[in-house]
Amino acid sequence: MHQNEIMTPAETAQALGFKPVVVRTHISLFVRDPEASAQWFADILNMKITARGPQWVFLSFGRKHHDLALIQAAEGAAQGGLGLQHYGLEIQGDLDELRRLYAMLLAKQVKVVKTTDHKVGYGLYFEDPDGNRFEFFSESITDDEEGKRVLGEHHAPSEPIVIDPLYT
Ligand SMILES: [Fe+2]
Repeated sequence: MHQNEIMTPAETAQALGFKPVVVRTHISLFVRDPEASAQWFADILNMKITARGPQWVFLSFGRKHHDLALIQAAEGAAQGGLGLQHYGLEIQGDLDELRRLYAMLLAKQVKVVKTTDHKVGYGLYFEDPDGNRFEFFSESITDDEEGKRVLGEHHAPSEPIVIDPLYT
């Protein structure tokens, strides 16, 4: 079956009922310099390079073959207003661990955008060398059902909050 072949009514009825069950995700980004960005992600996000090709580098958080792909962007490509807003990375650990990562970002001169209270956790937003925005977030509500309830009840809040870096 190709895109422009006609489905029978029975096939259409069956196909309409198929639903994805997504178990894990990966993201792929256009970057100006995949090798340079790969070094940055290895350093800042503690990732390992798992594969590379002439125009790309793949990295892993340690479990999967890849969680991130960095692809060579076209010459002169720039950030636009559509597409990725940010990619969230739930970290292991509490608010103090988030504060330590804040200190690490500052020490490595990573551009930190903002810190926010989401009621279900705290967010620390920063940018990669191409201006792609990432978020470290530390969950304050660890029960997922409770987290869904609280997020909905508060209309997915993102309130600015002062979080101080922690150096110990
Ligand atoms: Fe987020």
